[in-house]
Amino acid sequence: MKLSGEARVPGDKSVSHRALILGALADGETAVEGLSSGADVHSTRTCLEALGVEISGSAPNVRVRGRGLGGLKEPAGDLDAGNSGTTMRLLAGVVAGHGFSARFTGDESLVRRPMKRVAEPLRAMGAKVDLTPADTAPLAVSGGGLKGIEYASPTASAQVKSAILLAGLHASGSTAVIEPVATRDHTERMLSAFGAPVGLSGRKVTVTGGSRLKATKVLIPGDPSSAAFWVVAATLAEGSELAVRGIGSNPTRTGYLSVLARMGADIHREPARGEGGEAVEDLIVSSSELRGVEVGAAEIPGLIDEIPILALAAARAEGTSRFRGLDELRHKESDRLAGVAALLRALGAQSRIEGDDLIVTGTEKFAAARIDSLADHRLAMTGFIGAWLAGGGTVLGADCAKISYPSFYGDFMARAS
Ligand code: S3P
Repeated sequence: MKLSGEARVPGDKSVSHRALILGALADGETAVEGLSSGADVHSTRTCLEALGVEISGSAPNVRVRGRGLGGLKEPAGDLDAGNSGTTMRLLAGVVAGHGFSARFTGDESLVRRPMKRVAEPLRAMGAKVDLTPADTAPLAVSGGGLKGIEYASPTASAQVKSAILLAGLHASGSTAVIEPVATRDHTERMLSAFGAPVGLSGRKVTVTGGSRLKATKVLIPGDPSSAAFWVVAATLAEGSELAVRGIGSNPTRTGYLSVLARMGADIHREPARGEGGEAVEDLIVSSSELRGVEVGAAEIPGLIDEIPILALAAARAEGTSRFRGLDELRHKESDRLAGVAALLRALGAQSRIEGDDLIVTGTEKFAAARIDSLADHRLAMTGFIGAWLAGGGTVLGADCAKISYPSFYGDFMARAS
């Protein structure tokens, strides 16, 4: 089997959340093109609507009528963030800046994920944030009257950084976040695109309270995290020739391409037309033999969402690969570290966890398997590709791909032969 032709993917999920949120806080009407069609971004939309924001049209093209800085309305009921950590954490920062209370809930997966990481800095800014005794959601915020802080974040998390910066826009004075390792910088770029000054100095990002946002047009690039499924599948399926077009090439997101290049993948990167604050490229992939790779802990934030599919690539590479420092993977939509190790073993590859490291030894052929997605969209799509390469198998709960990529299975089979 092989993949051929051209593929396009939904708009970047991270950038889509931010486009809706900054559009909601801006003065004027923001036009968004290329919005993600995934369920997570829809959760951000419905939460914003419950906060009084008018959003017209549907993905990929929507218009957001901004309510201006501090202009959101108190919601009538709980805000349901669904499966989306980005929705809950970023909007917690936004609500903290408003003089009202809101309570965020989520699905079974989201209410197990750690929320202290946003609660602590928001409390330090003056918000009241209540969690369960396990420091999980429901997350209740009573905001307003915030003061700026300088926060050295113990966690390398773009969601934490973004929550603080969004609260900081509504705070007195300036607010700075210092990251332990650089994470995706979409919030910073988009704040600049909306006309808010952002100070950047090494791993320190600063915003000034009261900076008003000016509505703009946002063009959202294809999601590199979705493109990664195509890129790895085409690399592994002999005889494939595939072009994946219009993918965001923000260097904080393309770590997976560097790792695949080190493994010997044949991926030609062609810069394409720019999309506002975010650059775009086409990825031209030919199948190739891979070798094992070492991925260091400092690289992980730049490819955190691509670990499952990179691990699948390692499971077909010659030799042994090691991915270091994966503790954060335990706190995703599932315990993705355990989930990916089990998925690879089901396919017949050797994989084990040593401390926070994942060690994978490649095999030439996958076995048809019954794979549990653990209701995690990235494990579901990784498992599907594994089963496709094996020539058969089952993915339990495959439907959760809709979180980031509703048309994945149909699009994939249309290019597979
Ligand atoms: C995201 C940041 C990352 C990533 C998630 C999206 C974002 O999470 O895994 O899919 O949009 O800011 P963390 O901030 O928890 O690392």
